[in-house]
Amino acid sequence: MHFPPNFVWGVATSAFQIEGASAEDGKGPSIWDTFCRQPGVIADGSNGDIGCDHYHRWEADLDMIAGLGVDAYRFSVSWPRVRPTGSGDWNEAGLAFYERLVDGLLARGIQPYLTLNHWDLPDALQAGGGWANRDTVARFVEYALGLHARLGDRVVSIATHNEPWVMAHLGHDAGVFAPGIKNRRTAIQVSHHLLLSHGLALQALRAAGSKARLGIVLNLSPMHAATDSAADRAKMTLEDGQLLRWYLDPLFKASYPQDVLEQLGDDAPTVEAGDMAHIATAMDFMGVNYYSRSVVSAGEPWDVNSSGREITDMGWEVYPEGLTELLVRLHRDYPVPPLFVTENGGAFKDELVDGRVHDEGRTRYIAEHIEAVAEAMRQGVNMGGYMVWSLMDNFEWASGYEKRFGIVHVDYASQQRTLKDSARWYQHFLQQQKQQGG
Ligand code: FCB
Repeated sequence: MHFPPNFVWGVATSAFQIEGASAEDGKGPSIWDTFCRQPGVIADGSNGDIGCDHYHRWEADLDMIAGLGVDAYRFSVSWPRVRPTGSGDWNEAGLAFYERLVDGLLARGIQPYLTLNHWDLPDALQAGGGWANRDTVARFVEYALGLHARLGDRVVSIATHNEPWVMAHLGHDAGVFAPGIKNRRTAIQVSHHLLLSHGLALQALRAAGSKARLGIVLNLSPMHAATDSAADRAKMTLEDGQLLRWYLDPLFKASYPQDVLEQLGDDAPTVEAGDMAHIATAMDFMGVNYYSRSVVSAGEPWDVNSSGREITDMGWEVYPEGLTELLVRLHRDYPVPPLFVTENGGAFKDELVDGRVHDEGRTRYIAEHIEAVAEAMRQGVNMGGYMVWSLMDNFEWASGYEKRFGIVHVDYASQQRTLKDSARWYQHFLQQQKQQGG
């Protein structure tokens, strides 16, 4: 495997999952701080109060990232850390933290890849309806501009949102993620506001002179029908519409897919004149988070164990060729800018023995998915980079700390970090790429 010299290799995290210090130095509560306090919603009853204590250990963590030999670090800013209520005063201590982080990355030769919204909306905005309220769109644009004013001259890339489908659907329809609402109409309106805020933030950042590459990060999976039956295929097409085309069509064609709109009926979003054109504002890159494919059945849910493939600790099928299929389809169906795999990785049951974690499953997973990216490039897809999810074990949302995605092991009692074999493999792979001029 040989990649072009400008291909960007990275590792990724998000603020709520690693920072901790949930009420320190003026940080306001986010919807995830509040959600975690509801009984029964987080598998191990945990929360993000301490996380990986990255807020205090950031310098050593940056040294560790540099030691891996990556080109880039994808992280997110906690909105309520820099603007505690999402609308009022800005918090100087929070802004200063991210300034130190960005400067620390640059000092180590690592490109900062910033995500504005990785789910941790200020709780005060939720009190006013959160993403269901169109006003939040304007607050998000202010937030984007505030960070641009402070960090915009030093970050290489800015993604507006991480996985709008997850925030809209899991947060507002399934209700298993913050803010825990169960209402399809609300979820659909949230998805529209997220997309609109993305487009308006891009316009505002460009008008403010941003030199960073601007885009969004979507969670995408190729959809396969469980059988060839007409019912399974029809359901597959609809789910493809809900997860992929619902986001891709507005971003690249300025319209929502007709089949999904029809199925939504009265739950279709309220769209104001001009919204769709704003959403379709040109992007400099698009991020794709890929973990597995989806197999859709109109009857009994498809049994992942029937696939014959390896299954990760999340119960997700290991299906690397789905990444090639997905990237090639994006390239074929949409006028996409350069694509980045902004997240890819696996949760596995790790064991730390004598300072080592022999995570063959994760290592294989990452190597096979990198190969799947190479295959997409051979098929003509314009790829900008690849980032492993995640740098280190962290708070995996509703699964709490039970699921470990890191290539670095975290002992939560001591906060000690240990490179797993997968991290050592990645380090070695990146060295080889550099030697080959890649
Ligand atoms: C994605 C999230 C990321 C992480 C991985 C496993 O949906 O963006 O924060 O939880 O899944």
